[in-house]
This record gives sequence, structure tokens and C-alpha cells, in this order.
Amino acid sequence: MDITYDFEVYANDYQNAGNASSEIKKYLMQIGFTTKFIRKIVICAYEAEMNIVIHSLGGKLTITIDNKKIILTSTDKGPGIKDLDLALSEGYSTATEAVREMGFGAGMGLPNMKKNCKFFEIDSSSKGTIVKLSWEIKDETFS
Ligand SMILES: Nc1ncnc2c1ncn2[C@@H]1O[C@H](COP(=O)(O)OP(=O)(O)OP(=O)(O)O)[C@@H](O)[C@H]1O
Ligand SMILES: [Mg+2]
Repeated sequence: MDITYDFEVYANDYQNAGNASSEIKKYLMQIGFTTKFIRKIVICAYEAEMNIVIHSLGGKLTITIDNKKIILTSTDKGPGIKDLDLALSEGYSTATEAVREMGFGAGMGLPNMKKNCKFFEIDSSSKGTIVKLSWEIKDETFS
């Protein structure tokens, strides 16, 4: 059995930025996963959400849970990432000065996402970016 939830994320919407990842966190807590496991997923969800807000034209986060794994997918409507290798390297950011003043743009989002999941996949074109992350559910991921 699969359970899927979608969370719409809007471009430049700093007012609501973070809401999708807190909803995901609440949901994972209800299921009863350990805080350690939840933290990894929420770090990734937050980074993905902020990337949609800051760098994209809008998109969504999708979380799917079955008996064996959690899959988090970030999908957006473009403009895409020109150089994926560069985007995945620590410290690389195209964030504007205004965005940096809000505390973002360290160029650590994608590298952190990669570090905090079991499987990481990114695909990007001018039509949009898809980041897919997953985690295995084991006995010890329940508290
Ligand atoms: N969804 C996206 N759409 C378009 N470009 C993106 C997207 N996500 C990331 N990027 C590009 O990849 C770069 C690196 O992303 P990353 O999340 O690692 O750093 P950042 O968002 O710039 O800063 P930080 O995440 O540390 O606040 C971004 O600066 C941006 O150029
Ligand atoms: Mg980022």
C-alpha cells in the first residue's frame, strides 16, 4: 500500500516557505518514526522546498510512503539547472544578494540533501527540475 501526499510550493513565496516541510514533519511524527530518521527527511524536504521558492517558477513536494521506503520528490516548472555537477558542488550558488541577506545561498542545499538520504537522483531541463530522494524503512526507524 502506498500513501502519497502532494504539497504545492510557490515561487518567491517567503511567507509560506517552510510550510510544506513542516507538514511533512508532522505527518512523519504521527507515523512514529524516530526523531533521527525524521530529521534527515525534513532537512531534505526543507532544502528542496527552499530551492523551489528561490530558484524555480514554482512546483511541488511529493512524499510517498510504503512498507519499505519513503520517497520524497521535488518537481518544478523550470527554468532548470544548466550545470548539474556545479550545482551539486558545495558552495556553488546563483542566489542573489537579496536572497543571501535572508540567510540563504550558501550553496549547501543540494550537497546536504545528497548526504542525508539513501538514494539521490536529480534530473533537470529548461522545463523543470526533478529531485528524487529515498530512505529505507527498517525496524529501527520506528521509535
Ligand atoms: N529547483 C531548482 N531550479 C533551478 N535551479 C536550482 C534549483 N535548485 C538548485 N538550483 C541551482 O543550484 C544551485 C545550488 O543549489 P543549493 O541548494 O545547493 O544552494 P543554494 O540554494 O544556492 O543555497 P542554500 O541551499 O545553501 O541556501 C542554486 O544556487 C541554483 O543555481
Ligand atoms: Mg538551496
